Amino acid sequence: MTPPSASLPPHRKVRVDLGTRAYDVLIGRGLLDNVEKWAKQAGIKGPVAIITDNTVAGLYAQRVEYQLKVAGLQPFIEPVAAGEPSKSMTNVSSLLSKLAEKKMPRSGTVIGLGGGVIGDLAGYVAASYLRGVNFVQIPTTLLAMVDSSVGGKTGVNLPEGKNLVGAFYQPKLVVADFDTLKSLIPDNAIISDGGLRQFPAGMAEVIKYGAIRDKALFDRVATGVNPGDSDLDVIIETCVAIKARIVENDEFETKGERALLNFGHTIGHAIEKVTGYNTYLHGEAISLGMRAAAWLSVWHAGLPESDARKMETALAENHLPLALKPEIDRTSILAALGNDKKVAADGRNRWILLKSLGEATSGSELPPDLVEKAVNLLFT
Ligand SMILES: NC(=O)c1ccc[n+]([C@@H]2O[C@H](COP(=O)([O-])OP(=O)(O)OC[C@H]3O[C@@H](n4cnc5c(N)ncnc54)[C@H](O)[C@@H]3O)[C@@H](O)[C@H]2O)c1
Ligand SMILES: [Zn+2]
Repeated sequence: MTPPSASLPPHRKVRVDLGTRAYDVLIGRGLLDNVEKWAKQAGIKGPVAIITDNTVAGLYAQRVEYQLKVAGLQPFIEPVAAGEPSKSMTNVSSLLSKLAEKKMPRSGTVIGLGGGVIGDLAGYVAASYLRGVNFVQIPTTLLAMVDSSVGGKTGVNLPEGKNLVGAFYQPKLVVADFDTLKSLIPDNAIISDGGLRQFPAGMAEVIKYGAIRDKALFDRVATGVNPGDSDLDVIIETCVAIKARIVENDEFETKGERALLNFGHTIGHAIEKVTGYNTYLHGEAISLGMRAAAWLSVWHAGLPESDARKMETALAENHLPLALKPEIDRTSILAALGNDKKVAADGRNRWILLKSLGEATSGSELPPDLVEKAVNLLFT
């Protein structure tokens, strides 16, 4: 275990080494009760905008605000509605105006307190205001802890499509207090079959990290992970470290390596688009995409069939979907695949496939009939 800091509760620390933009990701329990300590360590001073959503605001924002006040800073909470529609230019505009009204200086700080929606929105606001103020991520969903809070991709959606506006903007610090995962509740707005969906949705990305880079991680999580598991910190740390190493090698996604993180995302994004982003959580769509991509890997990249079955078991053990709802239109998914954001300049998809569990390859082009076969499989 990473040696605990003298002043914070025992925690793990992953350094994202990006030269002048390097930062730490702190992972542990009780970190939100020590805000003033890590804020001091990170050199935060003066005004701090806590951008959050109204669900997370009610749970954690006042705690963070109070501690920052006690530490002599000038925090203020800016809540937006919970949910994906909040990743909008309308919110960017109103939040920028709020910062201007508060006369936030360049030395000020924006904290994104919430899931990936808030991290992406707050990060883009932080990148834009005065051409960039300090940014701190406090992720409160598993997906945000293992994925969206690390790596510096920020941005919002346009009516024309998801994540069409954005900037690479690295945070100064990421604080992942996984005590916050205890309050993840069923999302009744989009739930049809009961149960807790947010944690499993984050597990889809965890399974992805294992599949593309770390067989031991894959084997550990294949039997299922629950929010109370004692090794959750190790699992999160392992994922963050994998993402950190990939981002260090290919910060701006120009060398191909960062694209490996899109395993399962080509078909996953098509499913999200066709279902209007309101049927499946992102991780659930990625679960379906990874099942399809695992079989494409068998047919095209030499992945043993037994490994594709292991992928299916891992997804099922983590309460993730394996099959599409029958009412979903198969043809629309195939059409949407032609429009994927990751389509290369020549108009063809570059697929991320697995050679084995723990090793991915990028850049494969696939014959359309094989892609169709994989989509058909998702209806079985
Ligand atoms: N920037 C990146 O690299 C990157 C990577 C992956 C995903 N993303 C983005 O992340 C977003 C999805 O993130 P998400 O899955 O975290 O969704 P989210 O931010 O919408 O959070 C999910 C729901 O959980 C609630 N919530 C959050 N934390 C909670 C807590 N501790 N207790 C109770 N409720 C809580 C939220 O209010 C929300 O209703 C998408 O917009 C996606 O595009 C970005
Ligand atoms: Zn994803």
